[in-house]
Amino acid sequence: MPVWINGELLPDNEARISVFDHGLVVGDGVFETIKVTYGQPFALTRHLTRLAASAAGLGLPAPDLDGLWAGVEAVVGAYRGIALARLRITVTAGVAPLGSERGDSPLTAVIALAEQRPPADFVDVAVVPWTRNEHGAMAGLKTTSYAENVRALAFAAQQGAAEAIFANTAGNLCEGTGTNVFVVTGDRLVTPPLSAGCLAGVTRALVLEWAGAAEEDLPVGALAAADEAFLTGTTRDVQPIRNVNGSLLASVPGPVTRKVSDVFGMRAAESPDP
Ligand SMILES: Cc1ncc(COP(=O)(O)O)c(C=O)c1O
Repeated sequence: MPVWINGELLPDNEARISVFDHGLVVGDGVFETIKVTYGQPFALTRHLTRLAASAAGLGLPAPDLDGLWAGVEAVVGAYRGIALARLRITVTAGVAPLGSERGDSPLTAVIALAEQRPPADFVDVAVVPWTRNEHGAMAGLKTTSYAENVRALAFAAQQGAAEAIFANTAGNLCEGTGTNVFVVTGDRLVTPPLSAGCLAGVTRALVLEWAGAAEEDLPVGALAAADEAFLTGTTRDVQPIRNVNGSLLASVPGPVTRKVSDVFGMRAAESPDP
């Protein structure tokens, strides 16, 4: 299973990073997950742009995007026969002392791919008791410090749900662990604004461009009270929410969700790098 590491394509059992890598020691890094269909990455330009923005937000040196693009081509080229896969680009601060301060080593860059099952037809979600801090230094950045998401997803799984939903410190709807949220009330489609602290999802942005929706703060309770709702994300595209905290939504999938999903599927098929 080849992986790409710092410019080289290697068998995964020969790829090595230091035990002093700051990504491992304190989660000091950024990443992207990209959908790959038969060797074709989806929306690679947008993902690399966001990776650069996350690195800048974390105060890391700018990653070499041309080098990463070539790395992506090398990895996906080795797996052309796989129908659906997730490609992961990880860039960390590199080797550093054993603490929060950074070293002066070059960045570590890794690109790996794993086969992926198609998303389920719908998803059950649970609102978790912890909040996203929309005022924090990491708000809106896709960093490798995802343990909060791991904890939240495990909590949701204990409630029988497959995605965890966070409110922010103001009690407003924010996002899932790896997803953005859209809510339909009457005939209005609404998603939280980026100021709510959510990630600027690539799928979210494409839904806004291709289908349109209002970006407005909503109390987190609006999700369970919605007529219909859906998640967006790289590994799910547009996925209808079936129930929230164990209560069924009125319409699954509702007419607005179905329409958005159809438009997304059509437009994405037309343009692999929209
Ligand atoms: C915290 C978080 N929110 C939202 C998303 C959805 O973003 P995208 O559509 O770019 O996958 C992701 C996944 O990347 C995420 O990790």
